Amino acid sequence: TPRTKIVDVLQLEPPRAGVRVKGWARTVRDSKQVVFVELHDGSCFASLQVVVNPELANYEQLRKLTTGSAVEIVGEVIASPAAGQRVELKATEVIVVGLADSSFPLQKKRHGFEFLREISHLRARTNTFGAVFRVRSALAQAVHEFFQQRGFVYVHTPIITGSDAEGAGEMFRVTTLDVNSPPRTPEGAVDYHEDFFARPSFLTVSGQLNGETFAMGLSDIYTFGPTFRAENSNTSRHAAEFWMIEPEMAWCDLDDDATLAEAFVKHLMRTALDRCADDLAFFNKQIDPGLVARLQHVLDSSFERMPYTEAVRRLEASGQKFEFPVHWGANLQAEHERYLTETLVGRPVFVTDYPTEIKAFYMRRNDDGKTVAAMDLLVPKIGELIGGSQREERLDVLLDAIRKSGLHAEHYSWYLDTRRFGTAPHAGFGLGFERLVMYVTGMENIRDVIPFPRTPRNCDF
Ligand code: 4AD
Ligand code: MG
Repeated sequence: TPRTKIVDVLQLEPPRAGVRVKGWARTVRDSKQVVFVELHDGSCFASLQVVVNPELANYEQLRKLTTGSAVEIVGEVIASPAAGQRVELKATEVIVVGLADSSFPLQKKRHGFEFLREISHLRARTNTFGAVFRVRSALAQAVHEFFQQRGFVYVHTPIITGSDAEGAGEMFRVTTLDVNSPPRTPEGAVDYHEDFFARPSFLTVSGQLNGETFAMGLSDIYTFGPTFRAENSNTSRHAAEFWMIEPEMAWCDLDDDATLAEAFVKHLMRTALDRCADDLAFFNKQIDPGLVARLQHVLDSSFERMPYTEAVRRLEASGQKFEFPVHWGANLQAEHERYLTETLVGRPVFVTDYPTEIKAFYMRRNDDGKTVAAMDLLVPKIGELIGGSQREERLDVLLDAIRKSGLHAEHYSWYLDTRRFGTAPHAGFGLGFERLVMYVTGMENIRDVIPFPRTPRNCDF
């Protein structure tokens, strides 16, 4: 039998009889004369107050209804006498579909995010995580809208790969194994098969190199998929599995690249403000006071652009004491990035033209002989949200860079073909989707914006 989603029930003009809803009890309150059930179904931030009267045949059963139980309710939508809600549902029939036993770990009190991570399979039942994952879904849709409206072609780059797109040596290796009855060596150890592809294979760190080959034919493309990094960094902004959006544009330089990135980030922020207003109002109130005003302010301002050399000069001149000293040639640490965007600039900033040595091999060498046409977008509270660059389109310069990075040109021969056959200027960037969700919701830990986080020593669920 069809149900009406709570989001729609809350819009109905009372009185309206015969409305059927299905969902989970967030709280059950037995107030002697009636039972109040707060019902949620994930369709919106608000839950629906259901009033259960003693006239119902199974009233005694319903008095023992537990938090977390799945129920189907038919009733009349009436104007609510209670404050803070326009309507409520007066039940005429309540069917207990799935009783939650009393060990259900989500009770009325506020649970810490760390505890909720241990029950990632249940946290979608909470109002916070319902909100996070509705926003995440709306943002994913907005990613496609943005690029499709601009005529970009969505390319599914491979998850399993033979090449290290970043040249950073942080890849997970792929092996085959029957987990139920693994083959054994004569000594009894698990015998991993590594010869499926007749060569070592890995989980991709980035779809960029494959994306570049498609841009050299389709001109404007983007990827949106999971990427994997075996970096052993236990921070609130790094995950071993995260989603990345990587546009790649032929006939595009670093300036065009930054312009597109700014429009993209703003489109995503605007989408969240427009389509997830209730969820954002919750984050604004409970998670990150001032969030909505800050997002609005960012939408109304233009992002700063600053060469790395200038950024280092301003960080040095600030007199701020950092854990790691800043100096030209060193990577910017998270503390530097945040001080720059939060205190020195006060809004998102593209840092451009980094020293060659600290950036990936594929970035285009600048004429100064010291820097590359790179850009990182730094935003308050997060730090690096986007990394991108104009690509080195000159074959000889690229070969030299590969050699200097200690990489082997023969591993990249297919990639180098793009430079052999009709090379053209091109640029692109990668946006870390979880970091964007953090930025837009104010959630402070990457583990709390991806359904089942993968971090060092954590691959449960
Ligand atoms: O700066 P990164 O490493 O750049 C690339 O992968 C390029 N291939 C992108 C490109 O030009 N097409 O990663 C891009 C973004 C970062 O700015 C960050 O937002 C995110 O991906 N990111 C991570 N997010 C979560 N956990 C991690 N371990 C991440 N590593 C990078
Ligand atoms: Mg980066």
